[in-house]
Amino acid sequence: MTDHIETHITGGVLTLVMNRPDKKNALTSAMYAALADALEAAETHEAVRAILIRGAGDLFTAGNDLSEFAAVATGAADQQQVMRFLHALAAAAKPLIAAVQGRAVGVGTTLLLHCDYVVLADDAWLSTPFVNLALVPEAASSLLLPARIGHARAYAMLALGEAVNAQDAVAWGLANKAVPAAELIATAEAVAQRLTRQPLGALIATKRLMRATEAIVAQMAVETAQFGARLTTAEAQEAFRAFAERRAPDFASVG
Ligand code: COA
Repeated sequence: MTDHIETHITGGVLTLVMNRPDKKNALTSAMYAALADALEAAETHEAVRAILIRGAGDLFTAGNDLSEFAAVATGAADQQQVMRFLHALAAAAKPLIAAVQGRAVGVGTTLLLHCDYVVLADDAWLSTPFVNLALVPEAASSLLLPARIGHARAYAMLALGEAVNAQDAVAWGLANKAVPAAELIATAEAVAQRLTRQPLGALIATKRLMRATEAIVAQMAVETAQFGARLTTAEAQEAFRAFAERRAPDFASVG
């Protein structure tokens, strides 16, 4: 396995596991490609009636691989697979369920805004530290997060990178429920199984009614332009260097 994404279908549920625990499931271009492939194929795969996404190890995901952000900034890589993944998420017609333990950072949290049912372990922390990296929000989170939890909370998460614990995430409507970590996967699988027994046509129609997909995709395009421009800034370069060197960034030194 080179792409660090495991997939299997059991009882009508396609499970996608981010499995790169030595790097905290940080997402590489190859991983985004594998996730996008699986989501796109699920749309027409008759055996799939629900999709469950989770992470292996002690956390959900540390978000985008930061060395790849640095490579995109120098032109050595591009964001094409990220965009394919985000569009597949936005377009997914079948129910998407997430099971989240430990940290969900960056896209690990913003992808939850595209899920239909989110189960958290009690130890979960959700954070979106894009500005901390001198970047801007992605995955339409600049639209979806304030709409979901209100401007004040969304601003604290997006501008200050404040992490939200499982209890607050449920209270604010970012997730459906929090359960003991040992019960996380079984709880999420039970929800997914319940959804497979619902009439799929009605589920798809209901999801379509609940989500303004065109507006979401349009916001992603606006964000992507800003995001790409910000990746090459001196302050973003300083943020990536600081992470690699395991120190706090010094944004004052880069103007
Ligand atoms: N990109 C690339 N590598 C990452 C990563 C990321 N987003 N997150 C973690 N890793 C790597 C670390 O570099 C480290 O690699 P090494 O063992 O080769 O040195 C390994 O994963 C373990 O990470 P570490 O920081 O030691 O684990 P931790 O348990 O102390 O902390 C996190 C976990 C998630 C809190 C911390 O790794 C972190 O803050 N990561 C960055 C999150 C981020 O900013 N993501 C982008 C959001 S837009």
